[in-house]
Amino acid sequence: MNDSEIMDVEDALQLHTYHKMRLVLEKGSGVYVYDRSGRRYIDFMAAYGVVLLGHSNPAVVDAVKTQAEKLISCHSSVYNEARAACLSRLAKISPPGLSSFYFSNSGAEAVEAAMKLARRATGRVGFISFSGGYHGKTFGALSVTSGLKYRKPFEPLVQGVTFGEYGDEEGLDGLPFSDSAAVIVEPVQGESGVKIPPRGFLKAVEKRCRESGCLLVVDEIQSGLCRTGKMWAHQHSGVKPDMLTVAKGLGGGIPFGVTMVAKRLAEHVEVGDHTTTFGGNPLACAAASAVIDYLLKNRVAERAAGLGEVFGKRMLEMKKSKIYRESRNLGLMAALELRTRFNGVLEEALRLGLITLYSGRNVVRMLPPLTVSEEELEEGLGLLSKAVSKAEKDVSSTS
Ligand SMILES: Cc1ncc(COP(=O)(O)O)c(C=O)c1O
Repeated sequence: MNDSEIMDVEDALQLHTYHKMRLVLEKGSGVYVYDRSGRRYIDFMAAYGVVLLGHSNPAVVDAVKTQAEKLISCHSSVYNEARAACLSRLAKISPPGLSSFYFSNSGAEAVEAAMKLARRATGRVGFISFSGGYHGKTFGALSVTSGLKYRKPFEPLVQGVTFGEYGDEEGLDGLPFSDSAAVIVEPVQGESGVKIPPRGFLKAVEKRCRESGCLLVVDEIQSGLCRTGKMWAHQHSGVKPDMLTVAKGLGGGIPFGVTMVAKRLAEHVEVGDHTTTFGGNPLACAAASAVIDYLLKNRVAERAAGLGEVFGKRMLEMKKSKIYRESRNLGLMAALELRTRFNGVLEEALRLGLITLYSGRNVVRMLPPLTVSEEELEEGLGLLSKAVSKAEKDVSSTS
């Protein structure tokens, strides 16, 4: 098939739920991906943050190949070494006290499990979430996702969800902590454009939880696994979650989600309460073990923190552009907010050879692989800067 045939088939046969770029990718290596003509792109989209350790990282490829030759499928109703090895590693990196793990296949599923378990453990029905929060699109996860355009067409959703204002410490007093099973919060909001809450906000949420018996579920699906310069983004604020959700890069590109659970909560679960056929799949477990080993061995959190400083500085230099509004980053979770729609910058960046993603109407978001070198980072941000200048010129010439 040539490129246009591939796009035609996908457009005709794949349900139209994704906003697609006109780009056919064939292979990837490290921070780069290649189209079928061999053109190279720097990938700061990284499959929405999934490509944590770069495309086809040899450590992940080897682990997947070795496991695929041994055993690909093994239901969790029997035991398997790859699964046990993965569990042991998760226990090494999980926040203190979170020592039981539920395996699934995606971020939304990790959230679903946390929600069900919160109801089971507390006997309460309600949930608290926040404006701008994104937790996935299955019914439970969608119920705690704030975006109206995602929610409205599918109502009624799970009942009993109250939304607070993200970052508003005073507003917490008006929220029904005593009636809620759990509050679910992103330590840094991803989909809504890399929003970093004010200092003290997460601590204040935690305090209300401790006073009321409401559980604290931290959603680290986008922010976790060293992306923000620490293993978990909530560690910047010092809170202690009761549950944590992780997915995206954990499986090295193999679909994988994990709900990390405090031991005292795990005791409420009964056999059959919540299961999924693929949960604890050996291939995903072997890949995740390779990812965790790599993160620890290569001190990836420290790397991301250091490169984050470079990222922040370089984005700030774009301030001289009339279309720059603000830049934000914590480690390698970054956003450039524009005074215009994102489209001009995104399209020009792509034309120049840089793939980015977006949030809302005016945010260019970037989640580069954490293995990116400083030179590659500079190269990508150089292209972004050029794209911003071009979009600025285009805006000036039409206004
Ligand atoms: C913070 C957060 N939670 C949940 C999800 C949902 O994950 P998935 O798309 O794997 O269902 C996402 C996806 O972007 C996310 O960023």
